[in-house]
Amino acid sequence: MLRKLIAGNWKMNGLKADGVALARDLGIRYAEQEDPAFDMLLCPPATLISTVGEAIAGSGLLLGGQDCHAAASGAHTGDTAAEMLADLGCTHVIVGHSERRTNHGEIDLAVAEKANAAHRAGLVSIICIGETESERDAGDALTVCSRQIAGSVPAGATSDNMVIAYEPVWAIGTGRTPTNADVAEVHAHIRAELSRKVSDPDNVRILYGGSVKGSNAGELMAVPNVDGALVGGASLKADEFWTIAQASV
Ligand code: 13P
Repeated sequence: MLRKLIAGNWKMNGLKADGVALARDLGIRYAEQEDPAFDMLLCPPATLISTVGEAIAGSGLLLGGQDCHAAASGAHTGDTAAEMLADLGCTHVIVGHSERRTNHGEIDLAVAEKANAAHRAGLVSIICIGETESERDAGDALTVCSRQIAGSVPAGATSDNMVIAYEPVWAIGTGRTPTNADVAEVHAHIRAELSRKVSDPDNVRILYGGSVKGSNAGELMAVPNVDGALVGGASLKADEFWTIAQASV
């Protein structure tokens, strides 16, 4: 079994005061935990990375970005380089989230370039994949995941610098989740597909994301090949997010 990674994707939520309060609260809980059996990662919006980094200093919590540009620097107004995230103390960055794919037209190639940038900067990429509702209904969930892995995982990805997050688009923010059997099927498929990309696919952490909450985390995290969670809404509440983490081990 791989060590679980419980990651909070705050998305575009949080001003300084609530971000610091949430981060501090979780940092204290994590620091007080004797030998925690899971890693916990906070991915605040870009505006809060620095502040949250200070709030969790010394706690053992990890810090990550929600996106990065493919280039290390240059004329890219509004973008953030992976190197800049690393400079702020980030160890991880989410790339290819379905909200980026949908709202910003990011295709697999762009996601692969961003993941490559993350690796160049010494960050772990969390590469998001997952089918839409119509793709699932058409019986294409596995095919879509295969295609996204083939296109979004760059050469040079390893079990050390990459995490995969399976986030069925229709489960994000909807309160709906796939059955445990469906999660098991997709995660096993993802691991098999990863053998085309890395020499040790068994060591790649594969997170599940989409409506994870305290009440369903236990069963989802117990599904074979689920090595953690990428949590949106429920990561904005300290108690709820902590319950998810506790339920994962
Ligand atoms: P929710 O947990 O709010 O469904 O969001 C999941 C997600 O998109 C995490 O990246």
